[in-house]
Amino acid sequence: MSVYFATGNEVQLFERAYHRRLPVMLTGPTGCGKTRLVEHMGSLLRRPVVTISCHDDLTSSDLVGRFMVTGGDVVWTDGPLTRAVKNGAICYLDEVVEARHDSLAILHSLTDHRRALYLDRAAEVVRAPETFMLVCSYNPAYRSSLKELKPSFRQRFVTIPMRYLAPDREAGVIVAEAGVDPDTAARLVRCATAIRTADEAFHFEPPSTRVLVSAAQLIAAGATELDAADACVLAPLSTDGAITDGLREIAAACLDTAETPGSPH
Ligand SMILES: Nc1ncnc2c1ncn2[C@@H]1O[C@H](COP(=O)(O)OP(=O)(O)O)[C@@H](O)[C@H]1O
Ligand SMILES: [Mg+2]
Repeated sequence: MSVYFATGNEVQLFERAYHRRLPVMLTGPTGCGKTRLVEHMGSLLRRPVVTISCHDDLTSSDLVGRFMVTGGDVVWTDGPLTRAVKNGAICYLDEVVEARHDSLAILHSLTDHRRALYLDRAAEVVRAPETFMLVCSYNPAYRSSLKELKPSFRQRFVTIPMRYLAPDREAGVIVAEAGVDPDTAARLVRCATAIRTADEAFHFEPPSTRVLVSAAQLIAAGATELDAADACVLAPLSTDGAITDGLREIAAACLDTAETPGSPH
């Protein structure tokens, strides 16, 4: 089972929302642990997690199901949301902001006292069992996105804002995930923290815990810290070389820049 390092009281809040049958909205930057938290809560609450990645072609039929022709017969086939409701699972709609508003309207009756899914086309009402939980996530700071969730939709959820872990905890994640030594992990976190601070001037999506874990995995496989940071931390930040040059200096000042790469494990 994968480990989850808490940043605050999000585990308790999630658990309370689950027991009160309230839907949850996780917000926070990419790679800060939203998916990991949902997986963790699934095993803690002993519920299966059904993940649906949202995108702008997603229709309400993709969520609830549709009639399909199989062997000459037309039969109703449940979509992932309907299956999750019937199984009393945790249904996780990842990047919900990517879905169109009309596709999300189907969720309204699930997020209030009704706790039911109205399948108009199948002429069926699916009542959610006590263990069913709806969880959505989105990244409010993603600046290139022109999409926004409606305030009325946001207000249907208990919102749990998530952020990057404190430096020592984030280093702990990197050690646990990639098996690098604590000093290497601490240097990677220092590098990320410096770039996240510079972000206030540059306005790019800051480097996440995810990219630090990837960089650490390359280091564990024998890459130098600078090469790993270049490939995983700096390159994804921007396509503008000028910004990357400035940031490479910031990164180099934080990392172990010894010439010899470590031996691959
Ligand atoms: N709080 C955390 N505890 C454990 N691992 C984490 C945590 N936050 C981030 N990670 C690491 O970063 C990776 C990306 O996290 P993820 O949950 O997929 O981010 P998000 O869903 O917010 O984009 C995970 O696979 C894990 O290695
Ligand atoms: Mg995710």
